Amino acid sequence: MPNVTGRTPCGRQRDTSDSRSTPNPGGVEVAVDTGPAPAQNGVNAPGRASIRQRTFRTDNWLRAPLTNGFIIAFFLIYALVRVFMNRWFFVDQFHYLTPMYSPCISVECPPEARDFGTWVGKMPSFIPIAIFFVWILGGFRTTCYYYRKAGYRGLWASPQACAVPEPHKKYTGETRFPLVFMNSHRYFFWLASILLLINFYDAVKAFSGEDGFRIGLGTVLMWVNVLLLAGYSLSCHACRHAVGGRINHFSKHPVRYQMWTFVSKINPYHGTFAMASLFSVIISDAYIMILSAAADGGANTLPGWL
Ligand code: FES
Repeated sequence: MPNVTGRTPCGRQRDTSDSRSTPNPGGVEVAVDTGPAPAQNGVNAPGRASIRQRTFRTDNWLRAPLTNGFIIAFFLIYALVRVFMNRWFFVDQFHYLTPMYSPCISVECPPEARDFGTWVGKMPSFIPIAIFFVWILGGFRTTCYYYRKAGYRGLWASPQACAVPEPHKKYTGETRFPLVFMNSHRYFFWLASILLLINFYDAVKAFSGEDGFRIGLGTVLMWVNVLLLAGYSLSCHACRHAVGGRINHFSKHPVRYQMWTFVSKINPYHGTFAMASLFSVIISDAYIMILSAAADGGANTLPGWL
């Protein structure tokens, strides 16, 4: 049915200034108003039904993208501030090392935090210690299927929600730079898995105080964090493919079948693990930062329960 109101199916006013020149039989070009150039895709594409309403959804569909967008933006800002803060990442008394600076491999790390050796010497002050590995954590989360959905909806509005047309005129998917980079997720999965093992090592070391075995609040936070990170990695779609993909007969690979079955069971909770582990990283990092700052500020001996 022709749209006689001059409005697009999304309810926005058409741009009627789109005039193109057409030669007349006499050879003189005259301006003819042919209406807007047809969009090649999206709700305005030729052949799509002309519907005035932006969406028929009656629920509060904007809440989820706004909430997720706010959380992701907050974490991005927090991570940037913490990385460039370049201090307060280790509590010597309890051997707490924040996951954002682990492994600590610079000569500028405290000697007790360098359990994996000293790989780099003194760097210019504008290069933070965390830069050597935090890009793996950032790359793993950025290319994660869950965060892609949350980020595209919450930060980029492409689309904002199911059954809600996006405001962008073009959609090129993840086939071009920079979004083609998202296909690197499977590689980030393996790199992040190595860091996860190191996080487990750090959590074990958090049992060792100056007087031997101990459990403090920081130990508990680090273990909650590392278990949520493990849930996040194990429920990853790339992990599911790694353990169960490219097999023609599960009957010939019973161990991989068991692993695939387990990963498939927790895979539906991947989004929950993604958000929970995001907060657990922030909480454990902030906690270690506060204790480290207190120790730096002159609190020579912190209470053992911390
Ligand atoms: Fe989210 Fe792999 S899909 S971490």
